[in-house]
Parts: sequence; structure tokens; C-alpha cells
Amino acid sequence: MTGGLGDWRRTHSNGSLRRADVGREVTLMGWVQTRRDLGGLIFVDLRDREGVTQVVFTPQDAPAAAAAAAQVRSEYVVAVRGSVAARPAGTVNPKIPTGEVEVRVRDLRILNPAETPPFPIADEVEVDEALRLTYRYLDLRRPVMYRHLALRHRLTKAVRDHLSAAGFLEVETPMLIKSTPEGARDFLVPSRLHPGKFYVLPQSPQLFKQLLMVGGVERYFQIVRCFRDEDGRADRQPEFTQIDVEMSFVGIEDVVRATEAMVAAVVRDALGITVTTPFPRMTYAEAMDRYGTDKPDLRFSMPVVDCSDLLRHSEFQVFARTVEAGGAVRGICVPKAAELSRREVQQLEEAARAAGAQGLLPVHLDRNGSRGPASRYLPSDRLAALRERFEAAEGDLLLLVAGEPRQSSLALGRLRLDLARSRGLLGDRLAFVWVMEFPLLEHSQESGRLVAVHHPFTAPLDEDLPLLEHSPLRARAKAYDLVLNGVELGGGSIRIHQQEMQSRLFQILGISPEQARDRFGFLLEAFRYGAPPHGGIAFGLDRAVMVLAGLETIREVIAFPKTQSGADLMTGAPSTVDPAALDEAHIRLKMPPP
Ligand code: AMO
Repeated sequence: MTGGLGDWRRTHSNGSLRRADVGREVTLMGWVQTRRDLGGLIFVDLRDREGVTQVVFTPQDAPAAAAAAAQVRSEYVVAVRGSVAARPAGTVNPKIPTGEVEVRVRDLRILNPAETPPFPIADEVEVDEALRLTYRYLDLRRPVMYRHLALRHRLTKAVRDHLSAAGFLEVETPMLIKSTPEGARDFLVPSRLHPGKFYVLPQSPQLFKQLLMVGGVERYFQIVRCFRDEDGRADRQPEFTQIDVEMSFVGIEDVVRATEAMVAAVVRDALGITVTTPFPRMTYAEAMDRYGTDKPDLRFSMPVVDCSDLLRHSEFQVFARTVEAGGAVRGICVPKAAELSRREVQQLEEAARAAGAQGLLPVHLDRNGSRGPASRYLPSDRLAALRERFEAAEGDLLLLVAGEPRQSSLALGRLRLDLARSRGLLGDRLAFVWVMEFPLLEHSQESGRLVAVHHPFTAPLDEDLPLLEHSPLRARAKAYDLVLNGVELGGGSIRIHQQEMQSRLFQILGISPEQARDRFGFLLEAFRYGAPPHGGIAFGLDRAVMVLAGLETIREVIAFPKTQSGADLMTGAPSTVDPAALDEAHIRLKMPPP
């Protein structure tokens, strides 16, 4: 027999009882984690989001409750009433905070039975992610999932607290909009009232936050859902949440400082960790050369070092010829790896080739100098110079790549990450770094045209303005990314706030005045009415929680995420719709051939 709560009210959570509570009358509610029958005695571990409490049924003391307890199974929802007792000597469980006590039950109410769940509700489960996503509501009962949600909540709250105190106003912007280009595909929403016309879902509130600056709001933020139709990745979702910020009358330094203050406050309030500001900074060029990526992981060092000048006159032809032809010899120094076997180095070489290197040359630094295919071309003075350049010590391994400079850095950057992982160099640090001075424009392989690296509303660096006329690809932007442990947490820029400059940039991007008017006319128009200088940044909230929780996928910190292919396995979205709904939206389907 199951029933409702009646007049029962919960007095405690299942994580709260301690030795000091012995003797107290309590009412607990929750899910049955486990039930054990021991010669008449029945033990139930009762779980709620706060923890687990052991409750005990004794047939002599409470025959009805004990008989009912014999019926309960895992995940039954129950309520119990009884008194807190100290656990008998030898049965204390030091692993859980309530492990010194148990509740001797007098009354039990079964609030709802449950079928056997498709996987156990426990932190460590070996279960296919698809099954977890199909039964997400059961997955969310796992304590670890609750901890992730709670961290996310604390982080979100800390953002709101900090930004509110710093004079930022939270303003909502519309979800049914005209396209804001952030480089992904838009999700379309058909308009019933305007046949043949569509809204799109925002890829970000970019244009609206700029218009809020024109509207005099001065300091805006929003914790806002964004939608991008792009291929799935571990750190991407088609809908995700941004901490979106914009400020007026600011330059790069102001946004950077305000952001650092926010990040430090949030990490302190949400995690109790103190981070030192200001964060280190690096130019995009340096990041690409020294780490082979625009999101360098600085939890460990091992930078890519250029040693072309030391090897240009080498008798080793690969080096000499490469440098002669305008290429470079670059490398990394792997600490204490001189003992790596030929096979292990071969595997590294394969990885380097896969990442675009022509080859990989190991220089094992040992007691006698060096070992490896190039070592007889490395006389002692050159070897000494190399060791100094790499700040290497005996027992280290140099891995060199000769080739196109950026390509070599890219391949070595990948190796650097693989090696840090496999050799346990990552540690448990938070390594923030700003990457600045991004290029303004890049060449798009797809369209064959120039496109904005950040977005087309980003201002060029003042000193690079002249470059726009003759070599636009060399112009740098007033753009910045904040990277944490090799993950891009956020990015932003100082915006163009003058109409002529914005029109000029559209022109460089090959957007005709008509197209510009059609797509962004409202923005250009707004700029004619006194737009203040402004800039801002947006963070991926999901990503931030993911990295701060030390997780590898963003799906772990989203209550109801989508799979890599954008499906919701629980509800079955996306799905077909009623033909009548299509009719109303004036849509006829044209299916791709099977
Ligand atoms: P951007 O496109 O760099 O900038 O996005 C900002 C941050 O949002 C996160 N992010 C994502 N997180 C999960 N899934 C995705 N598909 C996804 N795409 C982006 C990343 C990223 O750093 N309007 C500009 C910001 C600005 O200029 O102020 C913008 O959206 O963490």
C-alpha cells in the first residue's frame, strides 16, 4: 500500500544527523539506496540530495513497519519516523558524515514504489552515456550529478552577486531575432503570421548588447542561452549558456580588469579558491609560435622553442636545408624523458606526423652528451647552445621538427599536450591566460573571402588601421580570449562604434552596402545617433563549470544536454511534427534522398 505524506513533515535531510542528535525524534524522506535483511533486522540506506542515513527496522519493536520494510526495493520513495540512535560499536561507518548514527524506525510510509532502474544510482557507474541521457532524471539522482548542478548554481549566483555589486544591470534580450553572425549556422523559427519569413535563435546577444550601450545602459550583463547549429564536440552544445557582458566608455584594459575581478570573485565564492590577478598575457602570435594553439595550456611549461639560428649551419642536411628555404627548426624539451625507448619515440613521431610535421628528431640528453640520429652532427659547443636555449638538463629529451614554422609549432603543441597528459605533468592547478592581439581577419577556405576572426563588429588596433588599406590580413584586432587550462572560457573585444568604420569593415568583408543595410541596417542606423565607445566579453558558463569541476565534457554540467548529434534522447527531440503545424507555418517538407 502506498500513500501520500498525510500530516508528516520532514524534519531533517539525510545528510544532517550526527552523534549530537542521538535521542531526537525525526522524520526522514527519500529514496531507498539499498535494503539489507539481517536475521530479522532490516537496514535501509535512505538517500536524498544531501546524503544517506541508515535506518533500521526491528520486528519486535515495530512489527508493522518491519513488515512493510520487507517490501521496499531500490529507488522506492519512502518516509520514516523514529529516533536517532548511536550505531553499536564496530558498526560505525567513517566514510559518510552520518556514519555514527542510525534511525530506529517506528513508522514507515511507502510514498511510491519504483521499478528497478536501468543502472545503479551511484557515483561510479559503468554505463553507456546514451542510457544515462535517456533516463536523465535517474542519472541526476547520482550524487555526483547533484554536485555538478550545485557548483553550477553557486557559480551563476556568484556572477550575479559580483556583477550586480559592480554596477552591472541584468537585461534580457530577445530569443526570436534576426541573425547575429558568430560564425555558426542559425536555428530557424518559421513565422506563422508572416508567411515565408523566419526568426532565428540568437547565436549570442551581440548586437542587442551593443544596442543597449547605444541605449545608455553603460554596464550590462546577462546569463543567457545561445543557439548555434554546429557540429557537436565534447566542449560544445547546440544550446549553451553565456555570461554575457558589455560596458561603455572602456578600452581593452578596462574590460580585462573588470573580467579578472569577476573571475577571481566567482572562483573564490563558488570554489573557495584564491586566484592571483592580473592573469598572465600573451599575444596571439606568441601563443601560436610557442604553444601551437590560440588556447595554450599553461599548467605546465614545455614551450615550443625556435633553434633555427643554432642549426642553420649544421651538417645535418634536414636542418640546414629547411632553414635555408625559410623554414624553421623548432622543438620542445621533455623533462626526464631521455630514457624513452625507440618505440616510444616512434609513436611520438607518428603523432607528430599526424599533426602535420614532416618528421620528428629526438635528441636524448645523456651523460655522454647526446644520443639520437642527429647526435653525430651536434658537436659539443652546438649541443651546449641547444641545451641552453631549451633550458634543458641531462636526462631530458629534445624533440625537434624542421619545417614550416607555424605548422611545426602546431605539431609540437599537440605533442606537448599528449606528453603532459601521459607523463602526469598537468597537476591540479588553475592556469589562466589572456590571449590578445588576435588577427582581425582571416581567409575563409569555404567562401574564398575575408572573414572576421572574432566577429565583424570588432575594432582593429589603432596602430593597425593603415594596414586595412593594403594588407588587411596583417591587421590585429582589439580582441581578447581568456583561456583556462587550455580551454577557451571566453572571448570579447572592443567594438567599432562609428558608422563609417563599421561600413568600411563590411566593405572589406565583401558585404555590399545593400547587404549591410538589409542585415545590420538597424545597427548602422543606431551608430548615427551617438554610440558611446564600448566593448565586452562573453564566457561559456557550461564550459567554465566543466573546467572548474575538472570534467572532460560539457554534458556533465548541463541538466538536460543533447548528444553529439544534437538529439535529446529522453524526449526524442528533434521529432516530426503534426502536418497541421507545418501548414500553419506555411512549410512544405523537401526531404533529402534516403
Ligand atoms: P564567442 O563566440 O567566442 O563570443 O563565445 C563566447 C564563449 O562562449 C562559449 N561557447 C560555447 N560553449 C558551448 N557550446 C558552444 N557551442 C559554444 N560556442 C561558444 C565559449 C566561448 O568562449 N558575442 C561574442 C562575445 C563578445 O564579443 O562579447 C561571442 O559570442 O566558452
